[in-house]
Amino acid sequence: MKTKNFIAFAMAGFFGLALITSCGGGKTGDQTTTDSTAVKEEAAPAGASAEQLALGKSIYETPGKCITCHQATGQGIANVFPNLVGSEFLLNQKVLAVTQVLNGSEKVGNKTIKYPAPMPQQVGSLDSAVAVINYVLVNFGNNGGFVTAEEVKDIVIEPRK
Ligand code: HEC
Repeated sequence: MKTKNFIAFAMAGFFGLALITSCGGGKTGDQTTTDSTAVKEEAAPAGASAEQLALGKSIYETPGKCITCHQATGQGIANVFPNLVGSEFLLNQKVLAVTQVLNGSEKVGNKTIKYPAPMPQQVGSLDSAVAVINYVLVNFGNNGGFVTAEEVKDIVIEPRK
């Protein structure tokens, strides 16, 4: 039941966004350009499509996932859940960030700050992990570029605990 709710939520979010996006140009019908910069607000960096970022957003905002700990602002809670805005780890070690979303933070060492509890596994597929990391890379004030499916293809997804 939980899973069904999640799927329904994710799909509603996804289609809702797709609808908004597809209707977005209604008032500005004079903009006939096919330039991809016509997609405003969360401009997708090359390599991260609007669809992928929409998936990332829906994962981020799913109750119990990212938003619950890192908050709607991405800023987390001091000394408990790290701030994702300007995070050195996120911005500079994108493949490891994808690994952490898949396998949890205990599997990803080299942390300078020790938090009271580790970050649990979040998603079960490379596509979902890439989508949500690309979403946080370009939101909340981050302008961190993107990670590609090709870069993360060798990550081994650990079994769920
Ligand atoms: C249950 C709480 C929790 C949830 C849910 C959670 N995280 Fe985390 N996250 C943490 C904690 C705790 C850390 C620090 C782990 C450590 O370094 O040992 C962390 C660290 C991170 C980092 C590294 C930040 C840094 O500067 O060290 C990233 C990136 C991140 N989380 C992204 C995500 C994304 C994306 C999601 C959703 C798919 C998510 N997290 C869901 C608790 C959570």
